[in-house]
Amino acid sequence: ASLQPYNTFGIDAKAAVLAEFTSVQELQELLQHPEVKPLPLLILGGGSNVLLTQDVQAAVLLNRIKGLSRQEDPDGTHVLVTAGSGETWHDLVLYTIEQDLGGIENLSLIPGTVGAAPLQNIGAYGVELKDTFVSLEALEIATGQLVSFSKEQCGFGYRESVFKKEAKGNYIVTSVTLRLTRDAHQYNTSYGAIQDTLAQQQVKELSLKAISAAVCHIRRSKLPDPAKIGNAGSFFKNPEIPKEQFDALKAQHPSLPGYPVSGDVVKVPAGWLIEQCGWKGKVLGKHGVHKDQALVLVNYGGATGNEVKELAYAVIQSVQEKFGIALTPEVNII
Ligand code: EPU
Repeated sequence: ASLQPYNTFGIDAKAAVLAEFTSVQELQELLQHPEVKPLPLLILGGGSNVLLTQDVQAAVLLNRIKGLSRQEDPDGTHVLVTAGSGETWHDLVLYTIEQDLGGIENLSLIPGTVGAAPLQNIGAYGVELKDTFVSLEALEIATGQLVSFSKEQCGFGYRESVFKKEAKGNYIVTSVTLRLTRDAHQYNTSYGAIQDTLAQQQVKELSLKAISAAVCHIRRSKLPDPAKIGNAGSFFKNPEIPKEQFDALKAQHPSLPGYPVSGDVVKVPAGWLIEQCGWKGKVLGKHGVHKDQALVLVNYGGATGNEVKELAYAVIQSVQEKFGIALTPEVNII
């Protein structure tokens, strides 16, 4: 079966076995199925963070576990929202805004599903999933049992979690619980682009809807819509480099942006580095580097995963040569 409709890069790779599950029970049954059991597993939600470079010799299971529910927090000012892992992330964001619950409005329009969000601690415009995250439930593949992970147990970092490291491949997330504010929202407008957009749109009073609309506007203006142009958002992570290296580079390149992570570490935007190497807007046949955001690699239609991967390596090499900085992919290359 072709996986082309199930990955936002639109790569035409085949799966040895393809099936979907809509509940924990269906998932447990699938894992025992004679065609699935002997194979390695690849779980896809929105398929918005993978680059498939070959046919997948695995059982590809599409997560379609739905469900949104809320429960009052005894503190009177918060609400716990639990979402099935197969819900589309942005649908959850819309649900919380509809219910006047604050906390994830800055994460509007991030592609993918709820279940994928904790794997890489999704983040945008000054907010990360971990800021509202309470816990998740996951199926332990080895035992078929449901287990719960607290925020601490998830080991969140910048685009990182335990599920990309020591627990990689061992669990399938089935639901996620967030803690959101009921009233007296604290809006995060720390990101310059949000302030500019709110001013542009002449927003007088901040609201969850206004912030969400501003974020959607910024994303639509910079990031290609995967329904139209194949892509997986930021292809690389923004590298963190020692402050001394940053200072030396800044002396050579005064326009280099940087955000302090700690006293001696600075995060620099990979998009800036890639643009400086001349890649922004480059088209190589059927694939290339997005014209409005150099951090995004795109498939205009018909590119293979390997072509995109080779482009990624060429980008990594030129950033290494020009700046002495090693970029690492944010997308899972399979
Ligand atoms: N920049 C350039 N050229 C470019 C792109 C960016 O010079 O082609 C510069 C911008 O001028 C700005 C800086 O880089 O000074 C930051 O750019 P931007 O605000 O677009 O954000 P980013 O650092 O490139 C990160 C996330 C995005 C997230 C935005 C907004 C990562 C890997 N990416 O991008 O996340 O939406 O910040 O918070 O951290 C994703 O993970 O898929 C993703 C889209």
